[in-house]
Amino acid sequence: MTAPLRTDPAVVKVALGERSYDIAIGRGLLASLGARIAALRPGAKAVIVTDENVARYHLSAAEAALADAGVAASRIVVAPGEGSKSYRVFEQVCEGMIASRIERGDLAIALGGGVIGDLAGFVASVVRRGLDYVQVPTTLLADVDSSVGGKTAIDSAHGKNLVGAFHQPILVLIDTALLDTLPPREFRAGYAEVAKYGLLGDAAFFSWLEQNWREVFAGGNSPGSLAREQAIAVSCRAKAAIVARDERENGDRQLLNLGHTFGHALEAACGFSDRLLHGEAIAIGMSLAFAFSARKGLLPQAEADRAIRHLTDVGLPTRPNDIAGPLPPLDRLMELIAQDKKVRRGMLTFILVRGIGAAFVETGVDGAEIRAFLGEKLAER
Ligand SMILES: NC(=O)c1ccc[n+]([C@@H]2O[C@H](COP(=O)([O-])OP(=O)(O)OC[C@H]3O[C@@H](n4cnc5c(N)ncnc54)[C@H](O)[C@@H]3O)[C@@H](O)[C@H]2O)c1
Ligand SMILES: [Zn+2]
Repeated sequence: MTAPLRTDPAVVKVALGERSYDIAIGRGLLASLGARIAALRPGAKAVIVTDENVARYHLSAAEAALADAGVAASRIVVAPGEGSKSYRVFEQVCEGMIASRIERGDLAIALGGGVIGDLAGFVASVVRRGLDYVQVPTTLLADVDSSVGGKTAIDSAHGKNLVGAFHQPILVLIDTALLDTLPPREFRAGYAEVAKYGLLGDAAFFSWLEQNWREVFAGGNSPGSLAREQAIAVSCRAKAAIVARDERENGDRQLLNLGHTFGHALEAACGFSDRLLHGEAIAIGMSLAFAFSARKGLLPQAEADRAIRHLTDVGLPTRPNDIAGPLPPLDRLMELIAQDKKVRRGMLTFILVRGIGAAFVETGVDGAEIRAFLGEKLAER
């Protein structure tokens, strides 16, 4: 069992020397946003960047929290969706910030999911040669993944996340109540990244998730339960530890890509559309990584089956054929896999597993073996 958290709200520290910061986690924390910012940067103004969906539910509460603490704030609201990680919207947000007379010591606040975190974080990395920013994630994926670790980016015509910067926030404030308005499908997709931390490096956490996932999903509807907060805290702690060891993804940080090479290829095959959300693609990708590892004799088939069963239990897809509609032919999928950034000197790099909680980076995976394996999986019904 994972040790339960003793305090609520919980704080997870990201240890990066003078760029260290706290991840505060708890239900209702949004109300403390202004006080926390005033304590960290006395006298600073703030510009909130958010999207239309999040603005509808949570912007006024965020603004009230800032006003209560005397933090002057303006807002920039963009359209929801990946399309906002574009040069056009990037320019619009930069210009909006400059027009609001933001100065070097002021702050950007990313209030939203991973799209807003990536966009606002990247804007913050360049406006006035770098502004501090605070992440207030509003999706489960952003809580446990994109808001932590300082990767920011927008998309290029050549691919996703190709223009960006490493820029760490000064605070991540996770109010788990914000997830109550998130569509269930988005929550479930984000859960794939939670399960990922167990599957890649923490078998005890994975067992805990097998026991407690219903309460994690229920959140505030399960009175007295802190399961959601615990799952988020353990996930953030896992990511923070990996980021502290390898901020710029030269080594260990690659483990976070468990399931992502297969997953990205499937996402690309679906045109990065609502047909397959990122977390859904990663659930399939992780299932394939476990199945492929078992086939190579790296772990017992029964253990791979157990990993996959949990993803199925929570309602995530685990097979390419769980995706509705036709998939491109095997050749095209192999091209998409080879295009993924985790290819070095012609060899495929995959994150494989020796068991639940025991992922490792394998740089020399034979493309022909992957092709044969994937061919079989596509033929399954
Ligand atoms: N920087 C990183 O390390 C990192 C890591 C993983 C993913 N990402 C990026 O994250 C992005 C995906 O993030 P995401 O899954 O959070 O998507 P998202 O930001 O598009 O949010 C998903 C949808 O939920 C809506 N939404 C967000 N919060 C809501 C709430 N509380 N209530 C109701 N609706 C809400 C949004 O408007 C959107 O329609 C991708 O662009 C991906 O590249 C970045
Ligand atoms: Zn991911």
